[in-house]
Amino acid sequence: MCGICGIVGVPNAARLVLQGLRSLEYRGYDSCGVAWLDGALHAKKAVGGVDNLRLDGPAHETAALGHTRWATHGNVTQENAHPHLDCGGDVAVVHNGVLLNYETLRDALTTQGHTFRSQTDSEVLAHLWESHAGADGLERLRRLVQQLKGTFSIAILDRTEAALYVAKERNPLWVGATKTASFLASDPVALKPHLPAATPLEDGDHARLTPGRIDLFDAAGRPVQRTAQPLAGLDDRIDKAGYEHFMLKEIHETPASLNRILSAHVTIEPPHVDLHLPDAFLAKAQRVLFLGAGTSFHAGLLGAQFVRRLARLPADAQTSPEYKDATSVPEKGTLVVLLSQSGETLDTLQALHRIESLGPPLLALTNFPKSSIGRKADHVLELRTGVEVGVAATKTFLSQSLLVYLLALALARQRGTVGDAALLQAATELKRFSRAIDRVLFRTAEAGQLARELSRFDHVFLLAKDLLLPAAFEGALKLKEIAYLHAEAYAAGELKHGPFALLEKSTAVVFLLAPGAHEASLRNSLHEVHARGAPTFVIAMDGAQDPGPLATHTLWVPAAPFDLQPLVFSTALHLVSYWVAKARALPIDRPRNLAKSVTVE
Ligand code: M6R
Repeated sequence: MCGICGIVGVPNAARLVLQGLRSLEYRGYDSCGVAWLDGALHAKKAVGGVDNLRLDGPAHETAALGHTRWATHGNVTQENAHPHLDCGGDVAVVHNGVLLNYETLRDALTTQGHTFRSQTDSEVLAHLWESHAGADGLERLRRLVQQLKGTFSIAILDRTEAALYVAKERNPLWVGATKTASFLASDPVALKPHLPAATPLEDGDHARLTPGRIDLFDAAGRPVQRTAQPLAGLDDRIDKAGYEHFMLKEIHETPASLNRILSAHVTIEPPHVDLHLPDAFLAKAQRVLFLGAGTSFHAGLLGAQFVRRLARLPADAQTSPEYKDATSVPEKGTLVVLLSQSGETLDTLQALHRIESLGPPLLALTNFPKSSIGRKADHVLELRTGVEVGVAATKTFLSQSLLVYLLALALARQRGTVGDAALLQAATELKRFSRAIDRVLFRTAEAGQLARELSRFDHVFLLAKDLLLPAAFEGALKLKEIAYLHAEAYAAGELKHGPFALLEKSTAVVFLLAPGAHEASLRNSLHEVHARGAPTFVIAMDGAQDPGPLATHTLWVPAAPFDLQPLVFSTALHLVSYWVAKARALPIDRPRNLAKSVTVE
């Protein structure tokens, strides 16, 4: 979502802040801005990416603060871009999150004579700061925070004190210092060029940053020390490696990510799935609840199916934006699995906050073990994909899907519902599985052909059954998200219970057809749709009967064991979505209105 970066105590600070913003920009990219101090306070803002912010002239500044925005309140305009300044021009403020009571605050501040220049909720922060003039900076910060309702990470650059101030509530913020300078950012990746380690703030934390010194306090105002996390292992390669888009590069990185997970967790001799979790942690699970948003929720749907089938435990998946506001709570004995690529999705974090006091065991599946969600969980399984820059989650979905399968296998082993022979077979199949994904990727040209035909349609249904249904949901989300197609996934048998009324020549229907138990039923649906004249696009797995003239277009994908078939179809759908978006000449890595990590409600 929004990105924040600030530096105090380094010559050339504004240019360095811009570098930091570039590494965060993929997370929110509608507008940006930077403020800096060279005795006076200056600010520059722009609509669009950081490259639109040009800093000319000599660089005498030693403190700066910048922001990339994902609009929540107010249109995408230069006035609404951060930083926001107070009336007197003494303070610049940036904010990530949403202030629920900003209208009341703005009305009160306007009555006191403050002039607002933007439509944002965030601008109240600059005027609130101004309204507490006279108090010491930390006291001003505390008074300001006490007036806020909502979620925030805030950074403030104060001219009179030549210092930065920060406060955090439910949105990520990291700080760190060298002997002569101090740094802050919403994501540690922006700090890596400057620091070997950085400290994630906890909710309620607030701090003053001066050159080489950070005074950090907890919610009660007590001085506090938090554990710094090493940054060396953090993947900061924002590089397309010759691909036209990050999304295509990241789809091609899937086999390597899967192999990293398999090397860490699966052996054939002896056949074993080791998630490096204490035995007692899994043994306690009497049911499993998967929570996540968007693509992560789809991995949860798959996980729930795996757990029910393999471990024969009750399992459910809930979408976190709903679950955070639900009234039901996990039953006793529920293992809660939090799925989040970024580990910072606020809906998932809020769902976790709602239930954590009940003390269910929490397992996070994330790419960032030190993220907010990773730090809250009892244990973390890492996605091991390296950084994912494209807004569309691709390789991370495949890693999540593989990990939920391994979790189901581990639970099944412990409960004795999967025996030695079945585990040996599963481990052997897993170890050669990434080759199946490689073979899907070899068929990228064929995926492109199907996609070019599909790109002519504005309305698409995706039909599948059983384990392939989460893959269909995932494909529909990708077609919406990056190709701007109206796409809906349905259990194949459901279509005739209403949506059939929409079938006509201009509605495309995509089928996920695998050999085996559900093949006949899916072919039956294919007949029914074909008979109504709707164009049919079949993604068929080797081994299935050729749909022949029933299909307007068929894309063949390589065979895979039953449990792993959703991963093959998802990869094919990721490729197809990419090529549809490409045929429609859309901004694939940065689709309109979206952001990589959604840290607001
Ligand atoms: O970082 P998270 O996995 O928690 O993100 C959840 C969703 O916002 C995310 O999966 C989103 O749906 C993707 N952009 C889909 O490609």
